[in-house]
Amino acid sequence: MNELPQTDAGAALAEALFARFGEHLAVPPELEGMPELLQIATWSTHRSWSQQPVSAELIRLLAACALSAPSKSFLQQADIVEVRDAAQRERVQALVPSMPWMSQAPALLVFCGNGRRFRRLFERAGQPFTNEHLDGLFNPAIDGALVMMNFMRAAAAVGMVCCPISVLRDQAQALADILRMPPHVFPIAGLCVGFPAQAQSVNPRLGLQATVQIDRYPQTSHGLQSVVGDAAADATMDAAVDAYDQRYMAVRSARLPADAVTAKPPMSWSQEKLRQYAQAQRQDWGEFLRTQGFDTR
Ligand SMILES: Cc1cc2nc3c(=O)[nH]c(=O)nc-3n(C[C@H](O)[C@H](O)[C@H](O)COP(=O)(O)O)c2cc1C
Repeated sequence: MNELPQTDAGAALAEALFARFGEHLAVPPELEGMPELLQIATWSTHRSWSQQPVSAELIRLLAACALSAPSKSFLQQADIVEVRDAAQRERVQALVPSMPWMSQAPALLVFCGNGRRFRRLFERAGQPFTNEHLDGLFNPAIDGALVMMNFMRAAAAVGMVCCPISVLRDQAQALADILRMPPHVFPIAGLCVGFPAQAQSVNPRLGLQATVQIDRYPQTSHGLQSVVGDAAADATMDAAVDAYDQRYMAVRSARLPADAVTAKPPMSWSQEKLRQYAQAQRQDWGEFLRTQGFDTR
C-alpha cells in the first residue's frame, strides 16, 4: 500500500482522479484512508505476471476475505472455484485460446453465482420453492460480483493484480461441465491472479457528469423520467460521451509513439465499442441459464 505522507497522498489521489475522470475533485487533506482510496482510484487490469509464485494458502486467505462481502438477504449465493490441478486448468484454458494471459497467470479462479443451496433448503424441508423468477438469478449474480470485486481489492492490498475473464462465459456449458456445476450454479467470470510484471497506466472513465446523477436523471423534453429515447436526455448523455471520447483519444495518443498516431490514430471509446459489439455475442447465455434450471422470464 502507498506510504506517502497524508498531504502527498491527497495530492496523488486528486491527480489520479483527474487522470481518470478529467475533473478536479476536492480531497480534504485530513481524510482517513487516503492510501486505500488511492489504491482503488488507480485500479488497473493486468495481463502479464511476474515469476513470483502464488501459494494456495494465500489464495485461500484472499478468498476468505472476499467471501466476507455483504450478501443479499444473507443468502450467501456466491462461490469461488480455484482451478488448481494442471490438467483441469488446461481444460478451462482451452476454452479461451485467444487470451494467453490466462494460461500464464499463476492462479486462476472462477467466480460463480450459486442458487442451489437456497433451493436445497426448501427441498430438504419438503416445501415448494416459491421464488423461481428473474430476481432469483439477479441475487446470486450480484453476490458473486461483489465477492469478485472484494477479491480484487484483497489482492491489491497484498500487492497482487488481476484480470477478470468473462469471455469464459462464451463457453458456459463447457465450463459448467468441466467444473461440474450443479443446477442453479452459473459462472460470473474467471479471474487471473498474480504479482505484476510491470506498472500499468490507468484507463480513463466516462466523466462523472455521465455516471453520477444528483436526485434524478436529467430533465427530458417531456418532463417525464420514463420516456425512453427522449431527445433532450439523449443529447445530455451524447455530449458527455463525446467529451469522454476526446479525453480517451488524447490519453491513448499520448501513450503511442508519434509516428504510430500519424499512421493510425487511436479509436475513440465509442468507435471501439461499436466495433466490439457489431457482432451479436453470447446469444446462447439465456439458454444456458434455463438449462441450469433458472426461470429467466
Ligand atoms: C466482469 C468483467 C469481465 C471482464 N472480462 C475480461 C476478459 O474476458 N478478458 C480481458 O482481457 N479483460 C476482461 N475484463 C477487463 C476489462 O477489459 C477492463 O476492466 C476494462 O478494459 C477497463 O480497463 P481497466 O480495468 O484496466 O481500467 C473484464 C472486466 C470485468 C469487470
